[in-house]
Amino acid sequence: MNIAVVGTGYVGLVTGTCFAETGNKVICVDIDEKKVERMKNGEIPIFEPGLDVLFERNTRQGRLSFTTKLDEAIEDAQIIFLALPTPPGEDGSADLSYILGVADKLSFLIKDYKVIVDKSTVPVGTSEKVHNILAKHLDEELFDVVSNPEFLREGVAVDDFMKPDRVVIGTSSSRARDVMKQLYEPFVRQGNPILFMDERSAEMTKYAANSYLATRITFMNEIANLCEKLEANVDMVRIGMGSDSRIGKRFLFPGVGFGGSCFPKDVQALMRTATESEYDFQILDAVLKVNTEQRRLLAKKIKTHFQDDLQGKTIAIWGLAFKPNTDDIREAPAMYIIDELLEAGAKIKAYDPEAMENVQKIYGDKIQFMDDQYEALIGADALAIVTEWTVFRTPSFKVMRELLKEPLVFDGRNLYDLERMQEQGFHYLSIGRNP
Ligand code: UGA
Repeated sequence: MNIAVVGTGYVGLVTGTCFAETGNKVICVDIDEKKVERMKNGEIPIFEPGLDVLFERNTRQGRLSFTTKLDEAIEDAQIIFLALPTPPGEDGSADLSYILGVADKLSFLIKDYKVIVDKSTVPVGTSEKVHNILAKHLDEELFDVVSNPEFLREGVAVDDFMKPDRVVIGTSSSRARDVMKQLYEPFVRQGNPILFMDERSAEMTKYAANSYLATRITFMNEIANLCEKLEANVDMVRIGMGSDSRIGKRFLFPGVGFGGSCFPKDVQALMRTATESEYDFQILDAVLKVNTEQRRLLAKKIKTHFQDDLQGKTIAIWGLAFKPNTDDIREAPAMYIIDELLEAGAKIKAYDPEAMENVQKIYGDKIQFMDDQYEALIGADALAIVTEWTVFRTPSFKVMRELLKEPLVFDGRNLYDLERMQEQGFHYLSIGRNP
């Protein structure tokens, strides 16, 4: 099939590349000329494991190409994906101006039947808005609008796209349904379902899934906080709970609060939608409040340990990205922790395998960026672990002890065994576990 993908951000680029990999001809279009030029020259604008191999193969074999011209990109396309940003407005609602703007342009360009697919996370009712804008200048026979939310996680996006747990397709048109089924069949060969539903339910499914996952993490963060007070060990509680097949083992890890470009934004947007519908979504309100506190927790623990006086203290930070295997620092808990530590007078020496360049753009020389995780420890009064990169999981404890001024570790991701840390002579504070 011929496919156009409008928007080459995270979702657009992964979507386009993965569809090319299954033999489709994909043209990705973006208004950012520099970015398009870079991609034409073989440069991938995001860090995502595994994407490079597919990107290189599909551009070389002519199935994946890039342009700034919307008209050229859609001319032969049977399907047009909209993978455009929906940034939160001041009131938390999603800003739809990019999506609706492109819909308006398409209404003048489309000449033959096309399926317009919304891949961005958009509020319930958006596909109707897109439909109405297209219908202003187009015969309704010439298009269908489909909602096809994306469930990929940064860091494992290619795998998530290639082997989805499910594909959600919201459409009331049987013609569009057949096109979408054909497109997605190669991705669900193991028997995972393509779930067809109406457009509104598909849009709601995405918000419900992300908000539920954010709630689940937040619930575990609260259980962890209570475990600390009750001298229980949240690792044990997590395994005990997760072994119940109704609960399941995944996504129960307590930590420094959820971050990233999706959960905080989507929980807020769903709250906003609820408010507009005069529904008081109390759980989500609590989720946001608890998460704001949880993001500060590690900094609070550090401040408490040093009796609120961090003047002249240096804190080493391992991990800046909001999670491992990405350079994304949007809503990253590390940023909140750094702000709080700086405000309390601390000096910061930070290391992250991928995200340092992005953090430097914000903090400049307010914090020190180190080339190596151990270098960050030299002369530091304590280490704070914020992101669970694999490279931090089995460090040399001997070297850590030698380099730190004091063997003091605040671990926001529960990477190490409590007994082992005690044997190694560390004062080790983690989340929901007592030393
Ligand atoms: C999330 C969803 O998992 C995807 O399914 C969805 O497609 C995506 O948002 C989106 O809407 O585009 P992502 O933001 O990439 O994906 O990251 P996650 O792996 O879900 O992690 C989100 C946050 O939760 C991170 O800050 C992570 O550290 C935190 N988390 C996750 C925990 O604190 N504990 C856990 O057990 C799991």
